[in-house]
Amino acid sequence: MKLIVGNWKMNPASLDEAVALTSKISALADLNELRQVILLPPFVFLEELAKKFKQINWGAQDVFWEQKGAYTGEISAAMLRNIGVNWILVGHSERRRYFGEDDETVNKKLHAVLENGFNVIVAVGELQKGDSDEVVETSFRKSIADVAPSDLNRLAVAYEPVWAIGTGEADDPARSNQIVGQLKSIAGKMLGEDSKQIRFLYGGSVNSASAASFLSQPHIDGALVGGASLDAQEFVGILRADY
Ligand code: PGA
Repeated sequence: MKLIVGNWKMNPASLDEAVALTSKISALADLNELRQVILLPPFVFLEELAKKFKQINWGAQDVFWEQKGAYTGEISAAMLRNIGVNWILVGHSERRRYFGEDDETVNKKLHAVLENGFNVIVAVGELQKGDSDEVVETSFRKSIADVAPSDLNRLAVAYEPVWAIGTGEADDPARSNQIVGQLKSIAGKMLGEDSKQIRFLYGGSVNSASAASFLSQPHIDGALVGGASLDAQEFVGILRADY
């Protein structure tokens, strides 16, 4: 089963709209289709949505690595326990770009997420088209450093070329597949056989028209979807992609 993650980013503007969007998705998709979905709404809507829509897997877009304390504006993994959340995304390129996160802070967040019992999605990707594959590979190695083999069934990695995010210019699926294949082989060297449990997603301008071309790639285990996840019809189109 491929994983389809909807990253709503800083949308929509109100809980009512968040409920309306989720209601539409639930009405259009059947339970089987919904099983592969993880939705990442803004923090403030999470608890209410998870309570109302139990058939959907819910996740947070970010987290801080400490459990509690003097960290103004931050949310800890401990706070996300017991509110119906089971996934947390770390290292999204917008966090890296606007909030100064780097591979070291992303790695701290990844460990906090795993220690608190959640599943984690870690995002990596090169900034510019044409950047060498090594940039992605190094970021990947550092971002997942010291992860325990016994936690790999709770780890997903999103390969997201930054130049493809929100631009309408998705990557060439064969190229993404090749990079993900390289990341899989690095993971194999770092972590051995257990690394086969890691799921690798592609993200960057995926929509209902392009989804099949990515999801049919042998190394790509799912998609991380931004813009198209805010339109129920489009999003369900991705779930139904024919691959
Ligand atoms: P996009 O965003 O689908 O709007 O390109 C993807 C992402 O940021 O995860």
